Amino acid sequence: MSENKFEFSFEEFNDSNELNDADARLLADARKITKQAYAPYSKFYVGAVAVLENGELVSGTNQENASYPVGICAERVLLGTVATIHPDIPIKTMAISYYSDSIKSDHPISPCGMCRQALLEYESRTDKPIRIILSGQEGKVYIIKTVRNLLPFAFTSDELK
Ligand code: THU
Repeated sequence: MSENKFEFSFEEFNDSNELNDADARLLADARKITKQAYAPYSKFYVGAVAVLENGELVSGTNQENASYPVGICAERVLLGTVATIHPDIPIKTMAISYYSDSIKSDHPISPCGMCRQALLEYESRTDKPIRIILSGQEGKVYIIKTVRNLLPFAFTSDELK
């Protein structure tokens, strides 16, 4: 028997003023785009903005539905858009933010399990790590170097060859 472990490090900033200009701008865009979310049921509005390797920006917001499971997260809306417009261009960095009618948006949230799986597929497909910036409308910011860190023991296409 051997004891194994997963470990990863991430950057933590006290607020967006500590970020470099490009990251601060991307996060500001993600914070702003939350306004386009359609979330009348959860009242939890998520915005994601990605910068691609060609410098283009693509955004996504969560879109809910009266039939609850039909709703889709901001991250997967974004991925679907990138994959359609620029299927061959890797995502360099994605910033994700939110606001909510019931909790304070002063701490980072991280992508749900389904979005982690979708993000990892995109990372593998383009063979480039996706950097993730997480933060609320204010407060701490986390930066994670690659989606792989968010999904240990991931099920990937390697198993289907
Ligand atoms: N949501 C996202 O869009 N992204 C996340 O990372 C977490 C959750 C959405 C799904 C749903 O519309 C609402 O937030 C509450 O779960």
